[in-house]
Amino acid sequence: MKRHIRFSEEEQALLLLDQRYLPAEEKWFVCRRTSDVISAIKKMVVRGAPAIGVVAAYGCCLAALSLGSDDAKWQKELSNKLLRLAEARPTAVNLEYAVKRMRAIWKADPDIRLEDLLWLWIKAAKDFHSEDLSANKAMGKLGQELLADGSTVMTHCNAGALATGGYGTALGVIRSAKSSGKTVSVIANETRPFMQGARLTAYELHQDDIPVRVACDNAAALLMSKGLVDAVLVGADRIAANGDVANKIGTCGLAMLAEQFSIPFYVAAPMSTFDLEAASGGSIPLEERPEQEVACLGTTRFVPEGVPVYNFAFDVTPHRLVHALITERGILRPPFDRSIAELFSDTTV
Ligand code: MRU
Repeated sequence: MKRHIRFSEEEQALLLLDQRYLPAEEKWFVCRRTSDVISAIKKMVVRGAPAIGVVAAYGCCLAALSLGSDDAKWQKELSNKLLRLAEARPTAVNLEYAVKRMRAIWKADPDIRLEDLLWLWIKAAKDFHSEDLSANKAMGKLGQELLADGSTVMTHCNAGALATGGYGTALGVIRSAKSSGKTVSVIANETRPFMQGARLTAYELHQDDIPVRVACDNAAALLMSKGLVDAVLVGADRIAANGDVANKIGTCGLAMLAEQFSIPFYVAAPMSTFDLEAASGGSIPLEERPEQEVACLGTTRFVPEGVPVYNFAFDVTPHRLVHALITERGILRPPFDRSIAELFSDTTV
């Protein structure tokens, strides 16, 4: 996969491979202001929890670039821009986390000059981007141990290179299994309504010559009952302190089915996806998106005018249905409240 998030200091721009057009067209969306970054996140030009975290870190740099240091109010304006950026989408905690990290650099020296802060932020954003890539590779290496040679893995949504700083969380594990010589094939659930599975997961895996077959979301029970699925492996948007997992709508149903058919259910996510302030999934905000995404195919509405729809973008899978959480620092097993606390006991994330 080519790099889909590119920051150019010379051009003072952030270039994003526009995921709304994939796989049909590879178009680039150019962000020059914070408002462009907010719009790219809201409209799903870029999506996936770690990817929007990385983009938000670069978005902070664009925010600083757009201000003049002789402007007496630059601190206030910058702070407001960061607030708006952090609120672009509510569920993936990586977004909030990235902006918090950039703020912490500023807080460490509140009297810093804007030029100096910008310099520190550009470096920090690039580091954050490469840290995410390294975390994915580490997760892949550890997680691939869970996949047997010859197995078929069901995925949901897109938790690949496009959803991260590169390589992917769930798809990183699959890529890593392939690199270590295993044959693994994938069933990618299409993932209504935005079709991340059919469009993006299939696109990435097909490019990498990893066998992938797309299935309707509602085929999962049948495929499992036929013994065609050996493991379910997904990413996450936010993981609570007790191990409850917020991820793409439909994930919880898959986990329930997996339990019914005695199939292991795994989640791969970096430490930046954990929210220890959320005691359980009940306190994770679940985004509701515009109704056209569900009611229309392209610009044609097929749900009768006047009939409302539900468009929750995420759901919460209770921790009791999760067999393992794959992180860059190790594979966590139940009881998750304990294994998560241990994981974070020696870090400030
Ligand atoms: O609405 P999206 O496409 O941003 O949702 C993405 C997901 O739910 C992914 O599974 C999750 O962010 C993990 S990505 C590594």
